[in-house]
Order: sequence, then C-alpha cells, then structure tokens
Amino acid sequence: MDEVYLGPTQTTVPKIGLGTARYFGGRNVLVKGLASGLRLIDTAESYNARGDEPGQAELQVGKELAGHWDRVFIATKISPRNLAADDVPVHARASARRLGVEVLDLYQIHGPNPSIPIGETIGALERLVDEGLIRFIGVSNFSADQLKAAQDAARRHPIVSNQIRYNLFDRGVADDVLGLCQETKVTVIAHTPLALANFDGHAGSGVLREVSQATGRTPAQVMLNWLVGQDGVIAIPKTDRPERVAELAWSVGWELDPDQRRALDACA
Ligand SMILES: NC(=O)c1ccc[n+]([C@@H]2O[C@H](COP(=O)([O-])OP(=O)(O)OC[C@H]3O[C@@H](n4cnc5c(N)ncnc54)[C@H](OP(=O)(O)O)[C@@H]3O)[C@@H](O)[C@H]2O)c1
Repeated sequence: MDEVYLGPTQTTVPKIGLGTARYFGGRNVLVKGLASGLRLIDTAESYNARGDEPGQAELQVGKELAGHWDRVFIATKISPRNLAADDVPVHARASARRLGVEVLDLYQIHGPNPSIPIGETIGALERLVDEGLIRFIGVSNFSADQLKAAQDAARRHPIVSNQIRYNLFDRGVADDVLGLCQETKVTVIAHTPLALANFDGHAGSGVLREVSQATGRTPAQVMLNWLVGQDGVIAIPKTDRPERVAELAWSVGWELDPDQRRALDACA
C-alpha cells in the first residue's frame, strides 16, 4: 500500500484507509484490511450511537483490533457539541478507553460549532498533544475560512488534516477548501469516497464506466485511484464485506493514464 506524509509531519499514512460509519463488524474486515496495508482506521464517538449513548463503533473497532494496535493508525472524532475546553479531555479519554488504546493517533473535530470559539477547542486539543493522549490534531467538514481560523488558533501543534466529503461526483466542498489544504500541507481525508456506491445516475457515470472498462479496474477502484492520485488526498471507504478488502487495496499501485485522468477531472 502506498503511503504519504500526514500533513507537515514525518509520519506516514496509507493512501487508502477504512471508515467505520455504519460498520457493524463481526467479519474481521479491519484485521483483513491491515494485512493489505489499510491501516488507517477512521471512527468517531458518534458512530453507531444508540440514542445518546456514544461509541458503539469505537467499541467494535477496539474489540476487533485488540492485539493488532502496533500496526494501526487510529483516527477518531469528537462531536461538535462537545468542543468546550472542559469537555474535550473527557471525550478524548472516553474514546481512548472504548478503543482500548493509550494514544489516539489523530483526533479530529467532527464539524465546526459556531457557538464555541475555535481557539478554545484548539487550545484544549494542543494540551492533549502536550500530555501525549493524542498525537495529531485534525478537523472535519471545515470550509476554507473555518480551516484558516483553526490554523490561526493553533500555536504549538499544526492542524494536519481536514476530512471532507469528496468523491468523483461530489466536488462542492473541495472547490472551496482543497486548494488551501494543498497549499498549507493539510492532508485531505476524503470521506464518502465511493459516493455510497451510487455509481450510476451522475453526469460522470458514463466516463467512470468507460475508464473502468479500459483499465480493467472496478468503478470503486477507479474512483479511489482518481482521488488519491491528487496531491495530499487520501481516502477512507467503508465496507462490511471481507471479500471487498483486496479490491479496495488494489485501487492504488497502478496509474490512470493522463487522458483518463483528464476525462475524470472534467466529468462532474
Ligand atoms: N467526517 C464526516 O462527517 C463523515 C461523513 C461520512 C463518512 N465519513 C467517513 O467516511 C467513511 C466512508 O464513507 P461512507 O461509509 O459514508 O461512504 P462510502 O465509503 O462512499 O460508501 C460506502 C458504501 O460503499 C459500499 N462499497 C464498499 N466497497 C465497495 C466496492 N468495492 N464496490 C461497491 N460498493 C462498495 C459499501 O457497501 P458494503 O459495506 O456492503 O461493502 C457501502 O454501502 C465512513 O465510514 C466514515 O468513516 C465521515
């Protein structure tokens, strides 16, 4: 699996990781993924929450990855309503406990909360880096302006990533923020990279099918290869099916030719 530097750090992450929203596990997809290098696992305190009870996905991920942590880069998220300075350490510790780890590799603000000053949240996250509970600070669903504000607030530790919805058919958020991320060395973690596997019915669906046929790769592989072929972009598809792990892993390790990439660039 190809790896890239995370933001401005010297730490590398795979171009393809695995997401866990609506992941219910039980079939060792994550462990199988590790063997193929899909070692960035993305989760959140809010995933698979039952009512107000958070962390079902984190518990599942922790159970499945117990004994394998030395190979994993774990990324989780704090929900927007929990971004007050006093709440941040409580929620970070709860996530670490549910996962069964002492250190969270990447701790991401799941989305902006305009009613809590971003400086307050970033300050609390920087203290957690100083304490060693988290290694890196990330954000998610931040626009260019929101990312700039977070970067300005970060005094001692950089914002290393912004997790945004970005896929072949859905470029909206990326228009706003992708350039800033690339200029300032913030890794874009593309969520929903397969457009929820809705490959048809989009303006670009025909081009996707054509490139898929020409390369002999599946539509999912073409979508992922197109994404992570861009500077500073990695992707976190989600699957419940072990038989899809190898397919996802082989979405890198080969290249679209320039004409194919141009056609995909222009198809949305
Ligand atoms: N930060 C945020 O606000 C945010 C929002 C949404 C998502 N995310 C993150 O991004 C991850 C991925 O996003 P997502 O789960 O919403 O959407 P996605 O990865 O675009 O699509 C997942 C769907 O694609 C299917 N699939 C997976 N591999 C496939 C393949 N090779 N061929 C055909 N279909 C395939 C899966 O079905 P099977 O399971 O049956 O394989 C599932 O239905 C999430 O798990 C989460 O970690 C973050």
